[in-house]
Amino acid sequence: MKTAKELCQSSLRIPFSWKDRRAVFLAPEFLYVPPQIEHQESRLLLFEGKPIFIEFCSGTGHWITDRAKERSEIGWIAVEKKFERAKKIWEKVQKEKLANLFIVCSDALEFAKWYSPKALSAFINFPDPWPKRRHHKHRLIQVPFIQELLHVTAREVTCVTDDLPYALQAIQEFSKVQEWKLLSHKNEWPSYGSSFFQDLWVSGGRKIHYLTFGRVLHEA
Ligand SMILES: C[S@@+](CC[C@H](N)C(=O)[O-])C[C@H]1O[C@@H](n2cnc3c(N)ncnc32)[C@H](O)[C@@H]1O
Repeated sequence: MKTAKELCQSSLRIPFSWKDRRAVFLAPEFLYVPPQIEHQESRLLLFEGKPIFIEFCSGTGHWITDRAKERSEIGWIAVEKKFERAKKIWEKVQKEKLANLFIVCSDALEFAKWYSPKALSAFINFPDPWPKRRHHKHRLIQVPFIQELLHVTAREVTCVTDDLPYALQAIQEFSKVQEWKLLSHKNEWPSYGSSFFQDLWVSGGRKIHYLTFGRVLHEA
């Protein structure tokens, strides 16, 4: 098997067959968590001393690579479940020499539950809307994930979508977990940055929904 260094020098490849699959670092800044494995809690220790911001559902990383360049004082983590897309983010990290962006190829819920370090803020940009009613069960922003976000995110979570029914469902799902409250719902956020899907939907004239949820602080 190739060493991590050799893998880095060529390109990322999954180094085992389906039956031997396990969570593994394919490069120093790339964690691969295959689907359908038995997990053991193993929280990443990353970006010592820096605040951490996580983006779930990063796609090919348009938004998060821009953010990492813009804000080098933050340690950024991109979580994307499709390997070829996560690999594209890693290639950008290599090309741009971004020392403050770590990539995880994983299902968002599994990563939050077993591997994620504590972050200050999380972002979910254009999660798949699964528009057909019978597919709504696949939507990420539902109570199980929102509960895991309590262990991951100390401050706030921002969800961005062009899909109004999904935005309304997200508001409803967050309201079921009493530790979260809706801080803002806006349709303009000029400094937020853009992503592949954001550009696509804005050029098609769609309205964008930016939802920010904050932790409710209980008096001791
Ligand atoms: C519509 S794309 C948005 C990509 C990017 N955020 C953007 O705005 O251009 C949704 C992305 O979320 C990823 N995704 C969907 N469900 C996921 C999950 N459960 N965990 C991690 N990534 C997921 C998909 O593979 C896809 O790349």
